Amino acid sequence: MRALVTGGAGFIGSTLVESLLTRGDDVLVVDDLSAGTRDNLAPGVTVAEFDVRDTAALTALAAEYRPDAVFHLAAQIDVRRSMADPVHDASVNVLGTLSVLQAARDAGAGAVVVCSTGGAIYGDGAPLPTTEAEPAEPESPYGMSKLAAERYTRFFVRAHGLPALVLRFANVYGPRQHPAGGAGVVSLFCDRARTGLRPTVFGDGGQTRDFLYVGDVARAALASADRLAAGELAGEVFNVGTGTESTVVELAATIGEIAGLAPEAFAPEFLPARAGELRRSCLDPSRGIAALGLPAPTPLAEGLTHTWAWHTGR
Ligand SMILES: NC(=O)c1ccc[n+]([C@@H]2O[C@H](COP(=O)([O-])OP(=O)(O)OC[C@H]3O[C@@H](n4cnc5c(N)ncnc54)[C@H](O)[C@@H]3O)[C@@H](O)[C@H]2O)c1
Repeated sequence: MRALVTGGAGFIGSTLVESLLTRGDDVLVVDDLSAGTRDNLAPGVTVAEFDVRDTAALTALAAEYRPDAVFHLAAQIDVRRSMADPVHDASVNVLGTLSVLQAARDAGAGAVVVCSTGGAIYGDGAPLPTTEAEPAEPESPYGMSKLAAERYTRFFVRAHGLPALVLRFANVYGPRQHPAGGAGVVSLFCDRARTGLRPTVFGDGGQTRDFLYVGDVARAALASADRLAAGELAGEVFNVGTGTESTVVELAATIGEIAGLAPEAFAPEFLPARAGELRRSCLDPSRGIAALGLPAPTPLAEGLTHTWAWHTGR
């Protein structure tokens, strides 16, 4: 299949590109390299370097490439930046998604997978593990722009028959997630362990997250495209998570153990809690697992072992 991957030079996108290439698919990446890098990709992968909001460029490229599947990952992903500059956040995440949907429709794409967030869409206080039936109550501009992108996706399904669906990811971690820019806590903790520093925890460390291995995300995205191409699941919204909650303190302990550090050498340093952070978050992935025929999610210790190996160059 011919796959167009927006944001393909980023953390999750580059993992998806790797999986597509392993299957023998043809891949074209669209990425403005604002956060991603060509180094994340195997040599020879074609990167069209421009902003997805450039609808004319994207439409022309898609018309020429005629993708069977479009995977839309390009986004402004920083919740704190969305608080400081919600206009930029909405511009990239809402207009960028609209641009992708329009170009995919005009090119007659047979499958469009739009990547959203579970962690920032459900409100604090939603029952855990949270199912897709829970109302969306975003607590940040990032969550709101992602929700708007979801709604536009479903509009394109209804109004134009676009074969598209939405995946809401939990807290994704894995190789190629960079600690710079306040990315995932797993990446930050691995970096601290590697450089001999103790992990920094905001608040009491009892806040929970659903840590999801990036390989599971790529698998869910591929299965989604295959089902859409077979004429199934258009308009669906699926959580992609593990259904297991871990506290940040537990996460630090597990990473310390995998890194072979004594507990006191990797004991967290506590800082004041950050405003606006969810206390607990955990997604129920069972609908998506059943509908997409996915295997059980990767256990945390196994995913962390792969991630630690990447951080330490092994
Ligand atoms: N990492 C997570 O835990 C997580 C959780 C939920 C949802 N998601 C979603 O998954 C997707 C990928 O996230 P990621 O963690 O790989 O982030 P990332 O920042 O590593 O990747 C995003 C990529 O998009 C590119 N990009 C950004 N703006 C662009 C634009 N206007 N035009 C073209 N390219 C642009 C960046 O250069 C980068 O390569 C995003 O849609 C994000 O919202 C991520």
